[in-house]
Amino acid sequence: MNANTDWATQPFAYTNTGANVRCSFSNNQWGEVTVHADDIIPVHISATCLHYGQECFEGLKAYRGKDNAIRMFRWKDNAARLNRSAARIAMQEVPEEVFEKCLRALIENNKDFVPPYGTGATMYIRPLLIGTTPRLGLNRSDDYLFVMFASPVGPYFKNGFKPGNVVVERDTDRAAPLGTGAVKVGGNYAAALNTTLRVQQEGYSSAMYLDPKEKTYIDECGPANFFAIKGNTYITPTSLSILESITNLSLMRLAEHIGLQVERRQILLEELAECDEAAQCGTAAVLSPIYSVTDPANNKKYTFGNPDEAGAVCTKLYEMLTGIQSGDIEDEFGWITKF
Ligand SMILES: Cc1ncc(COP(=O)(O)O)c(C=O)c1O
Repeated sequence: MNANTDWATQPFAYTNTGANVRCSFSNNQWGEVTVHADDIIPVHISATCLHYGQECFEGLKAYRGKDNAIRMFRWKDNAARLNRSAARIAMQEVPEEVFEKCLRALIENNKDFVPPYGTGATMYIRPLLIGTTPRLGLNRSDDYLFVMFASPVGPYFKNGFKPGNVVVERDTDRAAPLGTGAVKVGGNYAAALNTTLRVQQEGYSSAMYLDPKEKTYIDECGPANFFAIKGNTYITPTSLSILESITNLSLMRLAEHIGLQVERRQILLEELAECDEAAQCGTAAVLSPIYSVTDPANNKKYTFGNPDEAGAVCTKLYEMLTGIQSGDIEDEFGWITKF
């Protein structure tokens, strides 16, 4: 990547930037943070991450501002969520100081891979925690490896900020009612992978999952939270099986800031008929407006506004949040750390 890189068309794909950061936990303590050029890690064939799913991860981004400074958005929330994930699957938690040391070392060693201001491209950061103790019987690991790597990624909306279409999934669940849906562990993504590939082949941007117990309330859209605008209210589901999205938490604050009511509650699928706008939200896209939600089992299709244009509230929230992330809009909320 260099001055001639076409940032606008960069895919969301892995690039070896030449520097990843690691920290190991063994003998009951965290070791030194080390920087590596090699992007291969040696893992024991019987490690718990390979057999018993002791793996969790995070996703966050570094943004380049007009002032050329590198900004991180709410990274402490990612660090805290990583630990909720770790605790849920009996893994060692990563102290916030270790997370921060790794993040600083990663950014310091990958400055040239944070794309220029104004391109819409960003540097995606993937923290990953795995259990490395060899076990044959089902047990937790005593040893852990925490890795952080970075990859520059192009803008999510390569053809403009346009609405997409989602489809209600009734044949599979990504999470169980009291399972691991509320945390970011690899198994959730494996459970949803076939469905994701199938709905994409059918032309949808993602699958909408309903609550796995009753299949009546909206849960999430693929790897993103769901919200809708109903009159003067921002509504978003509560459920024990959805991942609490840091983007969604931020959009809720911004919605309040512009005078909307915010309701976090169970949302019946049928309530979509009364909504004016709908969207998926997450770090990758910030927010991705939805034009239609198709429910094939009931031969129903809920639509929102115009198929070619995002609604006014979604557009406003998107501009506010991306503006804060790039530093164009002053951060009144304490979300930004300059690195
Ligand atoms: C299942 C799931 N839901 C929601 C989100 C959005 O979360 P965030 O806004 O913190 O990126 C993600 C992405 O991390 C996800 O994987």
